[in-house]
Amino acid sequence: MCKYELEIVKSMNMKDKIQKDQVPFGKTFTDHMFIMDYETGKGWYDPRIVPYAPITLDPAAMIFHYGQTVFEGMKAYRGEDNRILLFRPDKNFQRLNLSSERLCIPPIDVERVMDYLTQLISLEQDWVPSKEGTSLYIRPYIISTEPGLAVAPSQTYKLMIILAPVGSYFSGGIKPVRISVEDQFTRAVKGGTGMAKTAGNYSSGFQAQAKASKEGNADVLWLDGVEKRYIEEVGSMNIFFKINGEIVTPELNGSILKGITRMSIIELLKEWGIPVVERKISIEELSQAYTEGHLEEAFGTGTAAVISPVGELNWLGRKMIINNNEIGEVSKKLYDTITGIQTGKIEDLHDWTVEI
Ligand code: COI
Repeated sequence: MCKYELEIVKSMNMKDKIQKDQVPFGKTFTDHMFIMDYETGKGWYDPRIVPYAPITLDPAAMIFHYGQTVFEGMKAYRGEDNRILLFRPDKNFQRLNLSSERLCIPPIDVERVMDYLTQLISLEQDWVPSKEGTSLYIRPYIISTEPGLAVAPSQTYKLMIILAPVGSYFSGGIKPVRISVEDQFTRAVKGGTGMAKTAGNYSSGFQAQAKASKEGNADVLWLDGVEKRYIEEVGSMNIFFKINGEIVTPELNGSILKGITRMSIIELLKEWGIPVVERKISIEELSQAYTEGHLEEAFGTGTAAVISPVGELNWLGRKMIINNNEIGEVSKKLYDTITGIQTGKIEDLHDWTVEI
């Protein structure tokens, strides 16, 4: 068998497929998953779709010790006409390779993996939910598997793809969320791994997230790690503000994730003639804009979060209620447009969608 030929082993034990909308994000998985292995000198080999099941790893596998791992998040949407669409999947796989480069993980062949993903989703097509606001979340990830405790890149890896039917990321659907500005901990610094989608960027945020959650916030807004002034991202999403009619989002500086929804939103805003700038923006500037009544909207963007309006920002005891805690005009138009394109309701003039 050629090392690139896809093997498919079907599950004998199919689960009940439920339409997911108001369920916890990423807790239910489909019947099958994709796995492919890597070994230095051999490259990526043995692509296979197998029944979803636990895997066995050596307790010394490097992933457990040094966290050499990367991941992606993408979605398959069911259109009204029953078509299944992916949104800019090439960008996700290209970003996976960028993250891998930062973590010294070997790159994948984007076209080949796209083909494997297409076959996995075709097999699992009945799992793609159709209710509004739902989709099949796709989680490709690579883990280092070589047993060993020396601090060095692994010589063996596994690429896996698992699928989860999901509704909205934040519980409660598309309604404004409350976010707290983190003033103590740091997510990333320039030269670090902030621009990579790697596990440590997320787990290092848990303590701040737990603190924020205790105070009733859905997530935290990170500031830069040096001056603790400049706004970076929310961790689960990039962030945008509408100030005095202009949309402002932090510029990509090496410590912020290069969001694919972020990139698409900027393109749409430019086409609509709505002024949008990528620049440094400090929390003081934002607070001042709020005081002066110029902070008109705030929203996060991401694959999981889609467009999530921010209704309240808490910073050093200051509560900023944005747009009366209601969904803003721009957030709503962006949400409707992006989800319209993703589900095929709106004609895709950009060639962003790929039909399965
Ligand atoms: C995504 O938007 O897909 C993400 O990866 C964010 C988060 C769920 C980790």
